[in-house]
Amino acid sequence: MSGLRVIQGGRAGKGQPGLLVEGAAEVVTMAGGLRRGTEQDNPAIVTAPGDPHGDDAPVVACWEGRILAVGRRSDLLGVLESGGYPLHRFTRVDAAGGTITPGLVDPHTHLLFAGSREGELVLRQRGADYMEILAAGGGILSTVAATRAATVEALEEHGRRWLGEMLNHGTTTIEAKSGYGLDLATELRLLDVAHRLGAEGPVDVLPTWLGAHAVPAEFRSRPDGTEAYVRHCVEEQLPGVAAQGRARFADVFCERGVFSPDQSRRVLDAAARYGLQPRLHADEIVPSGGAELAAEIGALSADHLAAPSAAGIDALAGAAATEHPVVATLLPATTWFLMHDDFAPARTLIEREIPVALATDFNPGTSPTPSLLHVLTVACLELKMTPSEALAAVTINAAYALGQGEEIGSIEAGKAADLVIWRVPTHLQLPYWPAADLVRAVVKRGRMVLEHPGP
Ligand code: NIG
Ligand code: FE
Repeated sequence: MSGLRVIQGGRAGKGQPGLLVEGAAEVVTMAGGLRRGTEQDNPAIVTAPGDPHGDDAPVVACWEGRILAVGRRSDLLGVLESGGYPLHRFTRVDAAGGTITPGLVDPHTHLLFAGSREGELVLRQRGADYMEILAAGGGILSTVAATRAATVEALEEHGRRWLGEMLNHGTTTIEAKSGYGLDLATELRLLDVAHRLGAEGPVDVLPTWLGAHAVPAEFRSRPDGTEAYVRHCVEEQLPGVAAQGRARFADVFCERGVFSPDQSRRVLDAAARYGLQPRLHADEIVPSGGAELAAEIGALSADHLAAPSAAGIDALAGAAATEHPVVATLLPATTWFLMHDDFAPARTLIEREIPVALATDFNPGTSPTPSLLHVLTVACLELKMTPSEALAAVTINAAYALGQGEEIGSIEAGKAADLVIWRVPTHLQLPYWPAADLVRAVVKRGRMVLEHPGP
């Protein structure tokens, strides 16, 4: 059993300060830090050898919003009583023979936008290409037009609706990018709405400024449009975004035909000077120097990587051997939804000891899914990740991809009490029932925030 800790600073739930989750067949702790190489396949599980309600079954104790301890029932209950955490101060929750995991973390979403783009799905079925649709002024740019015209209330309502869907699939923390404004006023509006939705809870939202997502129409008509827009990002948007103080991270769509590595570097270097940590859309469609750039600038995360070059993989492997690895955040639901054949080389990345995370990329063009469970299934089927590797990728490694590895992503004493109770007896079944409703309950900061009735 992990030692009891006196916890300060957690958000106390209504009524009782404690929450005791009992009756689990399996607790996936993900204890032990960032996963890479063969460790990515180690979920650090505590199982019930017999009856999930028996003496040897695992129990998770939370106190004032933090994990207090994970241990065997017979040891833990006595230690709580004698350690100053009387059992009558705990709300007891029955996992009913299910699995407990850390709350899922989605480290790459484009949460906020207006409108939808189902028409592009049909265009792609008929052979249209995602980048050609964008080059012709559609794709991202059609969402930009709709988003600029949307009211704050409409954006909030949309964000609340999809955060609810994410929570229904077990997600308790997300990253949310701007990038459908592409002018200062709309970018600020998106970042502010993202921040406010996070403050409203229960899902935590970490905002990212993605001003360099595409070149907007008013710059594309100029001969030097991309360069002029990069200057606008650095000189006009960034100071405003920094002064607003909502964004934590900066991101760029570094891809052939969008922003070059040099242009991306200028935006991200400038952002870093304002304290925004870099992350990158890297090599989504073709090798574009994104993985190399992410390693060079020490990005927290290099995302997509469906088409990294050999040199890019070498660069990420080099970074992985340092104190500040770049997390490879793979988005296989995007490759799947674009009907592309080439998925990210997850097996190679894991063999090269590069830590791998997974995310939904939730957005109206390339990945309209809010479900990390869906991503788990695609990761197992198409990236050939094991269920345990994939689960590490949406918990502890996703937390590190957001710089939150010490706070969330595992069930360890002192960390935020963000838990999901699943209606399956082992985490190996999480990718195994596609599109099923597997969540029994979600605990955020020690409070039950979602409970599904029934078996
Ligand atoms: O990660 N490729 C850039 N951004 C998103 C797609 C945005 C869109 O098509 O609206 C992505 O795939
Ligand atoms: Fe994206």
